[in-house]
Amino acid sequence: MIPLCVPHICGNEWSYIKQCLDSGWVSSAGSFVSLFEEKFKEFVGAEDAVATVNGTSALHLALRVLGIGEGDEVIVPSMTFIAPVNAVKYVGAVPVFADVCRDTYVMDASGLEELISERTKAILPVHIYGHPVDMDEVMAVARKFNLYVVEDATESLGSKYKGSYTGTIGHIGVFSFNGNKLITTGAGGMLVTRHREYGEYARYLSAQTKTITENGGFYHKEIGFNYRMPNLLAAMGVAQLEKIEKYIETKIKNAQYYSEKLSTLKGISLPTRKPWAQNVHWLYSVLVEDGFGMTRDELILRLKEEGIETRPFFMPVHLMPPYRMCRHGGLEVTLDISKRGINLPSSVGLIAEEIDKVCHAISCARSG
Ligand SMILES: Cc1ncc(COP(=O)(O)O)c(C=O)c1O
Repeated sequence: MIPLCVPHICGNEWSYIKQCLDSGWVSSAGSFVSLFEEKFKEFVGAEDAVATVNGTSALHLALRVLGIGEGDEVIVPSMTFIAPVNAVKYVGAVPVFADVCRDTYVMDASGLEELISERTKAILPVHIYGHPVDMDEVMAVARKFNLYVVEDATESLGSKYKGSYTGTIGHIGVFSFNGNKLITTGAGGMLVTRHREYGEYARYLSAQTKTITENGGFYHKEIGFNYRMPNLLAAMGVAQLEKIEKYIETKIKNAQYYSEKLSTLKGISLPTRKPWAQNVHWLYSVLVEDGFGMTRDELILRLKEEGIETRPFFMPVHLMPPYRMCRHGGLEVTLDISKRGINLPSSVGLIAEEIDKVCHAISCARSG
């Protein structure tokens, strides 16, 4: 089986995790946590980075830090994994769904203004599958209406918008180190920001708002969360980060190879890269058009028979029972590409022969 996207573990992971085990520093007070935060913030170019137990908790913290709460509205794409939408609900706010662009699959910033009401507090762009959202447009709308921007960069670590890593452009950005992400800690996340005060507040909230009194006791001024990343996971994160440049290079090279091989195939729309974007192609994704000769779901089954694991695009979140009543603009593109989109195998360890096999299988499927 050629898997969809599996981790690549080939560096200092064992030795750093062993250091945690040997020293007994396994939970979040260990030194790998701050080391991972330091190195990560340097890598992406942020002022602060706060390591968390997963990306979802980092999203929750981001909204909480910015004071988004009961009754506020947050504009999110419907074409996304559900986690950022759930995070909006965790703080008592309401998601409002925006459409996406057909070529990049990410939030269409040109439709944002018409979704804004007096309750709108934030925009939450999600750089799905790796292509950046047009952040200048998002930031311009945010400035005009005095809104916060939380970037969900969980799927786009390594992608750049006009030279800046995704996640570093809005007020707060969030990453995930789930097993299928560019680098992994098993489960883990990171909140990054250019604003030191947001980072400090996020760190405080993530550790149950714990302050130590003179006699060594704990004092908690407000309700916090147990969201700190444990040392064991951070140790793995430091090792993975040492290889990230290579991983990014490989992902981009593999995507180029996919595009070369599939470029002549009728009925398959290839992913775009806008001139202002570096797309890491976290998941190399294509659209199966009407002229292909079989539906996207038939293609998924055919590839499965050939030992190739793929995944359909996200089912739009506004169709899920908890979110069916939410306000939204036109979602024609979301509905269209959710039926056509397919993620192809995209592991860092994917080799050219495997890409050949995938492309050959797609080509054979087309010709029956
Ligand atoms: C777009 C998006 N946002 C948020 C998350 C949540 O991250 P985590 O699984 O680390 O909680 C994910 C998935 O992993 C995701 O794909």
